[in-house]
Amino acid sequence: MAPAALTAALLGGGLLLAAWRWLRAAARPGAGAGASMRGKTVIITGANSGLGRAAATELLRMQARVIMGCRDRARAERAAREIRAELGEREAAEGGGELVVRELDLASLRSVRAFCHRVLQEEPRLDVLINNAGIFQCPYMKTEDGFEMQFGVNHLGHFLLTNLLLGLLKNSAPSRIVVVSSKLYKYGEINFEDLNSEISYNKSFCYSRSKLANILFARELARRLEGTGVTVNSLHPGIVRTNLGRHVNIPLLAKPLFNLVSWAFFKTPLEGAQTSIYLASSPDVEGVSGKYFGDCKEEELLPKAMDDLVARKLWDISEVMVGLLK
Ligand SMILES: NC(=O)c1ccc[n+]([C@@H]2O[C@H](COP(=O)([O-])OP(=O)(O)OC[C@H]3O[C@@H](n4cnc5c(N)ncnc54)[C@H](OP(=O)(O)O)[C@@H]3O)[C@@H](O)[C@H]2O)c1
Repeated sequence: MAPAALTAALLGGGLLLAAWRWLRAAARPGAGAGASMRGKTVIITGANSGLGRAAATELLRMQARVIMGCRDRARAERAAREIRAELGEREAAEGGGELVVRELDLASLRSVRAFCHRVLQEEPRLDVLINNAGIFQCPYMKTEDGFEMQFGVNHLGHFLLTNLLLGLLKNSAPSRIVVVSSKLYKYGEINFEDLNSEISYNKSFCYSRSKLANILFARELARRLEGTGVTVNSLHPGIVRTNLGRHVNIPLLAKPLFNLVSWAFFKTPLEGAQTSIYLASSPDVEGVSGKYFGDCKEEELLPKAMDDLVARKLWDISEVMVGLLK
């Protein structure tokens, strides 16, 4: 191809991409459009970044009291300031919603317990818990309590958190639990013989395992919560442009191409957070429990994610690992 034709093709393609991207952004997604969360309290873990931050912004816009459970106070306070500024003084003042920052490190059972202790002391009600925080494909690391980091944060930390807040959720029923998983669960297995990955560690497998654990946990919890008025559903958000890939090394030369592709084809955090917002607020899913969603619609699971025996065994072992059962 002649250089002029190549330049024209590249420019034309770039312009088309930009127009498509702009149109997508202009069609503001609105899973919670019109719904009010006034008077409701929502906890979102990992609310200072990516999907959690987008969900916090939208639920605050819907007038909820939003508690941001974050591991780094400075990052969380900065995000809270930016969210308030984004909503604007008027919307924030008229809205009646509130944004509260609380420290929560899911890699520390002590921190999870301290967070829950404070919530139980201070909050008269809890309407929605969104288990959103996550860590992706990090090098082999252990949590404060000696668990493999991805299993420890993505599954065990949230397991303890949810269990300690269950009483408050039940007292506030109808209430909801939303568990952010990933389609990558498909590549995981619950290998009970090596949950701490001491025999071998594969960072992709361990992420997938933790996300499979999220779904099994949500299904088992839904079963245990039948008749209580507390529902629990899991979801995958799609591929979203967030900070999740911080541990993934992209070669320097490939970075511009990656940035272009992710900008063009990945969801924005607001687009990615739609299913979380939907499950947290929509009357459509009132009373729906134990299901798995993507793009605000119920989706089918692979048999491995519906294995009730594995789900129960994982529950029992998790109870022991986090110290709920001696
Ligand atoms: N992005 C995607 O394409 C995608 C796809 C499928 C599923 N997901 C899931 O979506 C959820 C949100 O991820 P994201 O994409 O929004 O990524 P993100 O921008 O990296 O946000 C993750 C959040 O989790 C927090 N976090 C990490 N470790 C924590 C810990 N030990 N204690 C408390 N908080 C911790 C992070 O805090 P810091 O900012 O302090 O690190 C951050 O606020 C995750 O569960 C992820 O598995 C994402």
